[in-house]
Amino acid sequence: MASLLILGAGGHGKVVAETAMLTRQWDRIAFLDNNNNLNNLMGIPIIGCFETYVDHVKSYSHAIVALGNNITRLIWMAKLEKAGFEIPVIIHPSSIISRFCEIESGSVVLAGVVVNANTSIANGCILNTSSTIDHDCIIGKGVHISPGVNVAGTVSIKDFSWLGIGSKIANNVTIGSSVIVAAGAVVISDIPDNVMVAGVPAKIKKYVGDEQ
Ligand SMILES: CC(C)(COP(=O)(O)OP(=O)(O)OC[C@H]1O[C@@H](n2cnc3c(N)ncnc32)[C@H](O)[C@@H]1OP(=O)(O)O)[C@@H](O)C(=O)NCCC(=O)NCCS
Repeated sequence: MASLLILGAGGHGKVVAETAMLTRQWDRIAFLDNNNNLNNLMGIPIIGCFETYVDHVKSYSHAIVALGNNITRLIWMAKLEKAGFEIPVIIHPSSIISRFCEIESGSVVLAGVVVNANTSIANGCILNTSSTIDHDCIIGKGVHISPGVNVAGTVSIKDFSWLGIGSKIANNVTIGSSVIVAAGAVVISDIPDNVMVAGVPAKIKKYVGDEQ
């Protein structure tokens, strides 16, 4: 059986770890973490800080990054892949994923998520708890879809955007790259790159960098 290294033992790391356990795909799981004085979390050993990843290539077959920051997650994912780890997709057994959709490596699909037909999810995305993504959507790399978000059909979301908790995206809309959609917003028209939008209907509140 395969073994899994999880980078990040924070809140998101805990959820990813439990999801990974439930898949029963891994005979061993361990964390790497930079902010934790513990050596064990949820019965899972914390075996070093992030920078020690190269020491574990021979003992762990797969690695996943469980960090909320979209850019940082993808940077670490690239380092792990280059070092020789396989980067898996981790899918909670309670999620409902159309067999006609594609989910690329490094993405995690958490409890209660629904993804409908002909949708594609690129590398390193977080489809967080109870979010739904309908048919024919194109989700770029490093996108975070927070808990309870609903994305209607034929929506395109470009790289590194973050949809805040409970936001809703109407059908046929394109959301640019590195966009932040604030909690509870309802997006009904296209959004350009690098902005934060909020409200119902969502309006641009400010321009943002690539920090999400
Ligand atoms: C958008 C967000 C990140 C705040 O970003 P920020 O850069 O700190 O924004 P600011 O506090 O500077 O707010 C800018 C403006 O947007 C408004 N705003 C921020 N969040 C808002 C929201 N959810 N709904 C409506 N308006 C909002 C502020 O009131 C402010 O308005 P003003 O300029 O008229 O005073 C935060 O409000 C948010 O929605 N976070 C989502 C959290 C989440 O989804 N967590 C799940 C993690 S799994």
